[in-house]
Amino acid sequence: MEPRIVSVVNMKGGVGKSTTVATLAEALAADHGLRVLVMDLDPQSNVSMMLAGQDRWGELRKEGATLDGYFEQYVYGGEPRFFRDVIARDVSDLMGDPRLDLVIATPEFRYIERDALARWVRQGFDVEGIHRKLGGLTHSALQNVGESYDVVLFDCPPGISIFAEAAIELSEFIVIPTIADYVSRLGIFAFRRRAIRSMEQRRFTEERIWTLITKYEAANALHVSEAEVLRADFNVFDMMIPQAEAIARAAEWSDAKRSFDQKYGPAADVIRQTASEFRERAGLI
Ligand SMILES: Nc1ncnc2c1ncn2[C@@H]1O[C@H](COP(=O)(O)OP(=O)(O)OP(=O)(O)O)[C@@H](O)[C@H]1O
Ligand SMILES: [Mg+2]
Repeated sequence: MEPRIVSVVNMKGGVGKSTTVATLAEALAADHGLRVLVMDLDPQSNVSMMLAGQDRWGELRKEGATLDGYFEQYVYGGEPRFFRDVIARDVSDLMGDPRLDLVIATPEFRYIERDALARWVRQGFDVEGIHRKLGGLTHSALQNVGESYDVVLFDCPPGISIFAEAAIELSEFIVIPTIADYVSRLGIFAFRRRAIRSMEQRRFTEERIWTLITKYEAANALHVSEAEVLRADFNVFDMMIPQAEAIARAAEWSDAKRSFDQKYGPAADVIRQTASEFRERAGLI
């Protein structure tokens, strides 16, 4: 069976995209026994560090087992390379060997993006054409390994990037993490138009675009009222990710393996339940 392909994306920075990808990936793999592939599209490499730790990330970077390493062949015409060879297997510091794999990003990712754009513009592609080309390349890469996974999660960078655009083009579902405040709501309006267009082109409806409230503080009256506003306008997860020290701490790699509850402490249950809701929404039952 083909995996479900999902992008976690928001043009706004710092809203919890990478944290959402890491926590969902770990809960789906460790708790639900699903086979998960995370694709890091952000040169900041946050989700790569969270899931592989700095040491392994450094080794993978040295070996060129990176997303930019894979795309080099298409942008610079270098050695052909199999997509399966850039996948880091069995990442995560959770106990129980969850089936969680990762393709890391590195800061060099910025250059491949710039050079891909320059090359394909020279070849006469327009912007949409470039998104489609990159989407096509990414899609065939995933098809070659597709049977190994139940779900593929893309962690997109903030702002605009051709890789994020390509990921949106090939995603069946889009998760938009957001903070429940006014400025963040403005950001969703802007981004949703883009996401809806992509869904409509494939004859999907906006039912496939979901908002996930993150960093929620129940004692913050603005968060409470904004969450209501978001629910009135958008397709919002029932579950909300609380602002929690344990979630921010869990981002740091631990050399000692830990259980899900050790890692996420008081936030473990809410993450599990969010993953269950995600699973239901994505039809991963
Ligand atoms: N639920 C949470 N509780 C506490 N801290 C959180 C929570 N979610 C995210 N954070 C912290 O907020 C910061 C931003 O989170 P994260 O990196 O996931 O956001 P992002 O949207 O991926 O950012 P960027 O746009 O830079 O990629 C990080 O320091 C992270 O540890
Ligand atoms: Mg991020």
